[in-house]
Amino acid sequence: MTVELPHSGKRGRDPPVHVLLDRFKLGEHLGKGAYGTVVRVKDTWCADGIDSDCAMKVFHPIDGHDDEVHDEVMQEANVLNYISKYPSVAHHFPCLRAHGRNFVVMDYLAYPTLKQSIKKTGARGMPIDRIQTLGLGMLHALSALHNMGLIHRDIKPDNVMCTAKSAIIIDFGLTVTVDPSSPSAKFVQSTWTDTPYAVTRPYRAPEIILELPQTTAVDVWAWGCCLMEMFAGCAILRGMDNWGQLECIINRFGTLPPSMTDRTTARVTTNVQRAETNARCGNVFWLPQYIAALRPSDVSITKEMRPLFVDMISHMLALDPALRWTAAQCIEHEFWTVA
Ligand SMILES: Nc1ncnc2c1ncn2[C@@H]1O[C@H](COP(=O)(O)OP(=O)(O)O)[C@@H](O)[C@H]1O
Ligand SMILES: [Mg+2]
Repeated sequence: MTVELPHSGKRGRDPPVHVLLDRFKLGEHLGKGAYGTVVRVKDTWCADGIDSDCAMKVFHPIDGHDDEVHDEVMQEANVLNYISKYPSVAHHFPCLRAHGRNFVVMDYLAYPTLKQSIKKTGARGMPIDRIQTLGLGMLHALSALHNMGLIHRDIKPDNVMCTAKSAIIIDFGLTVTVDPSSPSAKFVQSTWTDTPYAVTRPYRAPEIILELPQTTAVDVWAWGCCLMEMFAGCAILRGMDNWGQLECIINRFGTLPPSMTDRTTARVTTNVQRAETNARCGNVFWLPQYIAALRPSDVSITKEMRPLFVDMISHMLALDPALRWTAAQCIEHEFWTVA
């Protein structure tokens, strides 16, 4: 089966394309996200003569046209090249352009996304040993990414692929460097860090909404939300918009510490005060009570597991990014090894 390239945004119908650059044979549709459509391709230029399976992300046209390689595409391609030697990410080719479209080619990952895996288990939640395997695997991947001086900024179940033994991060379209002096800054831009819309809303850390500096701690918050979702079967923090998201966070975890609110601009402070007034104001007991009430008859969750899970999640979902644990600290937590 072949597919046509997703529409280029130009007037009229694009002619069907089945082979790109005399090299990549287009196959089935794999997934679609906010920035691109991913299709399976066969790379016909392999040294051993056997076509290899790859995935190709064809970027959506930006502002209705796609006449050049846009900064956003180059940013993602540069990140992919920079990190491609690390085993927990798919290997990629540099950014390519053909038929007026921009795309990157990467290893084909024949695995479900975490979103698909959570959907399959539904409200029962994922088996606890699976949460341990994927949770720890992803922390190793995040820790490696953070050591390279990068912040992913879009950790969510759609951007994680689940293998039997670990997790693989995909989609580096929003990735930036931690600071302009880090070695990765040579390859990857450090701008755009202050947008309050980085990270998909249910996984967005409070400091992003407050327009405070973004650090690697935003990925830990997002992964903490994902772990809760794996346990509960649904996302736990769901606001209607950016400020509604903050209200939801305050509802669960209580008011924000002055170490955060003292540093915001006057405009943000007004919105924070409104969110605090609207919120019912949760407390430090919300998380343990919520986790204690979930999956009461699940015998695979031993007596020792629940308090350890609560403890680890509390460190990952600490409101203040300065107090939140790093991915490397989380790896050392007892929860991963308790049976
Ligand atoms: N290497 C890959 N192998 C197989 N499927 C992939 C691969 N990369 C992405 N996908 C699928 O395509 C979807 C969209 O890809 P993604 O890179 O997240 O695009 P976007 O930036 O538009 O969100 C993913 O959720 C996943 O289902
Ligand atoms: Mg994506």
